[in-house]
Amino acid sequence: MFSQLRRYILTTLLLIFCLPRSHWACTLNSGAQEKQKDWWQTGQFYQIYPRSFMDSDGDGIGDLKGVTSKLEYLKDIGVTAAWLSPIFTSPMVDFGYDISDFYDIQPEYGTMDDFRELIARAKELDLKIILDFVPNHSSNESEWFKKSVARERGYEDYYVWVDARYDENGNRIPPSNWLQAFRGSAWEWNEQRQQYYLHQFTVQQPDLNYRNPAVVNQMKRILRYWLEQGVAGFRCDAVPVLFEVLPDENGIYPDEEKSGLTNDPDDRSYLKLDLIENQPETIDMIYQWRQVMDDHQRIYGGDTRVLLIETYAPAWYTMQMYGNSTTEGAHLPFNFNLITELENGVSATKVLKAVDDWLLNMPAGRTANWVMGNHDRGRAATRFGPERVDAMNMLVMILPGASVTYQGDEIGMTDGDVSWEESKDPAACNTNSSIYQKYSRDPERTPFQWNTEKNAGFSTATQTWLPVADNYETVNVEVELAADRSHIKVYKSLVELRDSSKTLQYGDWKYKALNENIFVVKRYLSGSETIIYISNLGDSAETIDLTTNFDTTLPETMNIKISSVDSKKTEGSTLQLNNISLEVGEGLVLSTA
Ligand code: GLC
Ligand code: MG
Repeated sequence: MFSQLRRYILTTLLLIFCLPRSHWACTLNSGAQEKQKDWWQTGQFYQIYPRSFMDSDGDGIGDLKGVTSKLEYLKDIGVTAAWLSPIFTSPMVDFGYDISDFYDIQPEYGTMDDFRELIARAKELDLKIILDFVPNHSSNESEWFKKSVARERGYEDYYVWVDARYDENGNRIPPSNWLQAFRGSAWEWNEQRQQYYLHQFTVQQPDLNYRNPAVVNQMKRILRYWLEQGVAGFRCDAVPVLFEVLPDENGIYPDEEKSGLTNDPDDRSYLKLDLIENQPETIDMIYQWRQVMDDHQRIYGGDTRVLLIETYAPAWYTMQMYGNSTTEGAHLPFNFNLITELENGVSATKVLKAVDDWLLNMPAGRTANWVMGNHDRGRAATRFGPERVDAMNMLVMILPGASVTYQGDEIGMTDGDVSWEESKDPAACNTNSSIYQKYSRDPERTPFQWNTEKNAGFSTATQTWLPVADNYETVNVEVELAADRSHIKVYKSLVELRDSSKTLQYGDWKYKALNENIFVVKRYLSGSETIIYISNLGDSAETIDLTTNFDTTLPETMNIKISSVDSKKTEGSTLQLNNISLEVGEGLVLSTA
């Protein structure tokens, strides 16, 4: 009797507490899953380097009309948003990263009307356009700088001006030992003003003074101006160098210590960068820009306007850019780990570290992103080897979060050959003919390869601003789209999969380096298909058993959704998971669906 009563009470308790609980848990779960992600959280971002994308008027230089004429191409390969390297008025010392008028278009790229046309056409195609915001510096030909040199009222402190120091022989010396990015001192003497000014990049790129509220306001005005033109956000350039430490009470700037990394005293890495990079004030400025974006959206409505941040900084710093528990920051501080950590060769263990370094440091609730390349680093196909391009493109699309492609990486473009005489990049031209290749960014900036015609279909000019790479007859959009198997087809299949797979958009993840060569990612979501990425990033063929070495809950076989160009495995066939052989560079995307 007593035991019966006890059972009754127990059962009732169970019913009251446990059943509804599991039911609530279920609802919560699916509620969380159904919460729509915002466009930028799962989107494909694509970087256009306008000077090298498409030339519409035959002057050998890409332009806005050229970009507009290729928007359908971007749509076709599944791009969500394209960010454009600077298109503003510029003397082109650093190819647009030296802006003389932040409110107008560089004439060789087109006019404001051409820009409006680009935005309008993009809108029709449901493509988002993001501009490059260069907040750290202007061109020395900007009106602001000229006025500042002349100490015109309101512009006196627009830049970082400081008196000279003198050595024991009475020679004028710069205020500190700081070095610029493209060799030599970060300080330049100005005769007219009789002071030095700071430039973290070339002499022609004076640093704006962010301790001056007028500068801060001017830069926010620029953001609003382009937002009103209908852009979907900004990629913010060179953000970690925005602020430098303040001088001491005597106006003296402290010297940086030596880094011990190189013996070349003109190379920026000769010194530590503790005083001129990664200052706390910069993080706050990002939060202020975010406010500008959110305010604009509140007033005008429409989709989220995004802030993407260029940052080569350590994780403790970069992760603060996302925001904190009270304040929102950048939507996506760019994750360059797969570039910077694989500089000296790629292996599964290095990839594991690069992935860990982002995902294990990222604050909860934020969105990851994976950048494959940009206009400052060698091309992905050259860095990783052409045989690994598909496997790497797969990786950035299968990992959680947004993916970022640099123009041409979808077709496997390699670094072009640019001789010393043909060199244009100040990072190269400030060196000499024997070492320029180590510094030059021209090879990754050669014209986009559209087809087998003259200048790869980029331009009808006799000479293009940089030479077209030699391999354009085999590596180009037209040939690859016509081929049965090609890099671009792999790329398109990946984007299609990302767009259609809830698992890739919302699912959880698990990843592992099985050894030096093999990297695996599993994406899974209850009620949806499981997706596996597996690749051989090493230098020798491998045969592996995925069920015992990675995940014992995997089924015996899965379907091959996508295979890299040189893979012998047929898409659509099934694969035995306990015995997978992988050639060098081979990459596969498998699915239970
Ligand atoms: C960023 C750009 C680079 C430019 C520099 C100065 O790093 O990506 O191309 O030279 O900023 O603006
Ligand atoms: Mg042109």
